[in-house]
Amino acid sequence: MTRIAVLGCGRIGVMHAANIAAHPRARLAGVYDVAAAAAETVGTAHGARIFRSAAEVFASADVDAVLIASATATHCDYIEAAVEAGKPVLCEKPLDLSLERVELCRRRIGDTALPIMLGFVRRFDPGHRAARQACLDGEIGDLHQVVITSRDPAMSPDAYIEVSGGIFRDMTIHDLDLARFMLGEEVVSVSATGSRLVDPALMERCGDYDTTVAVLTTAGGRQAVIVNSRAAAYGYDQRVELFGSKGMVLSGNRRRNEVTKHVGSATNVSTPLLHFFIERYAAAFDAEIGSFVDAVENGAPVEVGFEDGRAASILADAAFKSVDEGRTVRVSEIA
Ligand SMILES: NC(=O)c1ccc[n+]([C@@H]2O[C@H](COP(=O)([O-])OP(=O)(O)OC[C@H]3O[C@@H](n4cnc5c(N)ncnc54)[C@H](O)[C@@H]3O)[C@@H](O)[C@H]2O)c1
Repeated sequence: MTRIAVLGCGRIGVMHAANIAAHPRARLAGVYDVAAAAAETVGTAHGARIFRSAAEVFASADVDAVLIASATATHCDYIEAAVEAGKPVLCEKPLDLSLERVELCRRRIGDTALPIMLGFVRRFDPGHRAARQACLDGEIGDLHQVVITSRDPAMSPDAYIEVSGGIFRDMTIHDLDLARFMLGEEVVSVSATGSRLVDPALMERCGDYDTTVAVLTTAGGRQAVIVNSRAAAYGYDQRVELFGSKGMVLSGNRRRNEVTKHVGSATNVSTPLLHFFIERYAAAFDAEIGSFVDAVENGAPVEVGFEDGRAASILADAAFKSVDEGRTVRVSEIA
C-alpha cells in the first residue's frame, strides 16, 4: 500500500485525492493546500490527515510519495523538496511555464534514482494506448503521420487564461507529449500558426491564441499535426489518428454510452461527448495512479518522466517562437 499525500486541493487535486483514496494499492496519506479551507474539505471527505505546511508533508514518515497538484509555479519547488526528502513524485503538467526554471530544477535534482513522474494523463487513455499498441504491433505498417485533434468544450475563465502561460504551454503541452509518445522518434522541428477567433480581445490582451495548428517533424520525416481550439460548440473533442503504410488506426471521442438513434429527421444521433477532462479521461487518471504505484512499489521505471516534461516544454516554446516569427523552428534552437 503506497501512502500518497496530495499537495494542492483545487480542481484536479480534489479528483486525484479521490482516486488515490479509492485505489486498491494506494492510501491517501494526507492533503495540503495554502488555502486551508480547500485542504480541510478534501481531507475531511476522505478521513485523511490535513497538513498545515508543505514542509510537514515532506518531513512525515507516514508519507511514501507525493502528488503535486498545486498551481504550476509551485511544481519545481515541490519536486526539489521531494527529492531532498527522498519522496517519489507524481507532478501535474507542466513542469513550469519557464524553461529556465525547468533547467534549474533539472540541475538541482541531478540524476536522482527516485521516481519523478509527469501527469501527462493522455498516455494512459485506453483508446490512445490501444492505438499505439496496434502501431507497435505493425498493424498499420510504417508510421507516417499522427493527427491529434484536441478542442476544449468552452473557453476557460479570463483569470485562468491570463496566468496560463499561453495555449501551447498550458493546453497543447498534453498533445505535444502525446505526439512524442506516438511518433516514437524525437521531434526536430516545429511549425505553428495561431489565430484569435474565439475571444480576440482576451487573446490580444494576453498575447495568446485560442485556435492553433502545430506541425511537428521527426528526423526520420514522420509528421504530427496537432489541431487545438479553446472552444468547440459540440463538446470536448479528443481524437488521435495514426496513419501508416498499411492502414490507419483511430482513437475516437468518448460518450456516456454508445447508443445511436435513427429517426425520421436524422440518423446516427449519439449522446453528447463526455464534457471535460475529468470525465473523458477518468480511466486514464486512474491508470496513471496505478502506474505511479508500480514505480514506487516495484522500482519499475516511470512511464513518463521529468525528461518528457522538459521535452514537451521545449516543443511548446518552439511552437510560440514559430508563430511569433512566422517560420519553422528547429528544436535545437530552443534546447
Ligand atoms: N492533467 C490534466 O489534465 C490537468 C488538468 C487541469 C489542471 N492541471 C494542472 O494541475 C495544476 C492545478 O490545476 P487546477 O486546475 O487544479 O488549479 P486550481 O487553481 O483549481 O487549484 C490549484 C490549487 O493549488 C493551491 N496552491 C497554490 N499554491 C500552493 C502551494 N504553494 N502549496 C499548496 N497548494 C497551493 C491553490 O490554493 C489551489 O487550491 C496546474 O499545474 C494545471 O496545469 C492538469
